[in-house]
Amino acid sequence: MCVTTQAFSHFKLQKEPHRARLYRELPPIWWSDQAKRWFVTNPELVRQIQTDTAFKVPDYDASPITERLGIDLTFTNRLRQYLPLAWEGAEHKRLRRLFSSVIAANQNAAIESFGEDLRRRLSHALASDRFCMVADVLRPALRIANMRLAGFSTTDGEALPDIESIPGMFDDRLSPTGRKRIEQNIRDLYSRLPDARDEESKLVILAFTALSANTLLGSLAESLLASFAEAGTQNFSAIDYPAELPATGLPLIEKICITPCEIDGEKIAAGDRLRLFIEVEGLLASGKPEYSDLYFAAGPHRCPGQAYSRRIWKSLRDELATLDVFFEIGAIEHRKNDCVFNYIEKLELMVHDQE
Ligand code: HEM
Repeated sequence: MCVTTQAFSHFKLQKEPHRARLYRELPPIWWSDQAKRWFVTNPELVRQIQTDTAFKVPDYDASPITERLGIDLTFTNRLRQYLPLAWEGAEHKRLRRLFSSVIAANQNAAIESFGEDLRRRLSHALASDRFCMVADVLRPALRIANMRLAGFSTTDGEALPDIESIPGMFDDRLSPTGRKRIEQNIRDLYSRLPDARDEESKLVILAFTALSANTLLGSLAESLLASFAEAGTQNFSAIDYPAELPATGLPLIEKICITPCEIDGEKIAAGDRLRLFIEVEGLLASGKPEYSDLYFAAGPHRCPGQAYSRRIWKSLRDELATLDVFFEIGAIEHRKNDCVFNYIEKLELMVHDQE
């Protein structure tokens, strides 16, 4: 079925305030003329397609953009060589093993670093009457922890370039200017890595950054927002934080059809692109978020960063549960012109002395 409605931007469906209702009202799989791809908004089909060998991951190869627009994307493509997400078959297996071994070696130290940094930053932030939970606390603490997870120890996250821009490389709607900016940030990050490191471990750090810098920060911020009461004064220690991340910063993933097939009565041709809404099962009919194991994908490309991400969420909720501090939510801002992530840039909290 083709959905032609202009009532909402198809590329921004995941940002719609009423998307929980829309996901349910739309056909399970439908062709978007606006986005020139299939949209899959049914959780069973989302799960099924991720394990079906008729589909592969997009390769995120930037060379066609370089050829078409003459933009130098050398470092974007070097990073891409180390993304398990961009490969199938033997190379996918090799990179997945490499990622899993780096995560296993470093995750305890990374989680410890996050916990220590979090405590320090929170106590500093809570000394003022308003602060941004993202800019002042979560982003700097996660920068250091995620770098440590990738095997790079640094104590100065702020000295790094704008690494949170790098996952924008997954957005096929990104402007040439946006691509150039990301290329520069990848180069800057690369240039800060010690010369003595071998090439592979440097490229692994770049690839880790692309996969962790928005997924985890976006999911933590969305999950905090989902845990807080929407309005009024509340106490950090009185909040019932869910055991699992209740919301995700990565609401969708994409696949390419390689073998013509039929899904739920729709004929899918080789080369067709599909957008799978993985947050769909985690949204209640009321629109309120609830945990979904689909947040970390299914099938051979399911996320190897899941255990780390869940432990970071636990560390955050355990820490907040100890704070007998009253606050109110202030300004909230999401990143603009982003067609992939639900990424909160500003989550301002106003601190009160008492209720
Ligand atoms: C809450 C945070 C996170 C969420 C919601 C998340 C979600 C996902 C999802 C949905 C996928 C599948 C993508 C696709 O098929 O297109 C994925 C893949 C992946 N994630 Fe995560 N992720 C998170 C954190 C992390 C972290 C911290 C890392 C560490 C580097 C990581 C590493 C990876 C890798 C390497 C893949 C590709 C696996 C493969 O292709 O075999 N993720 N993640």
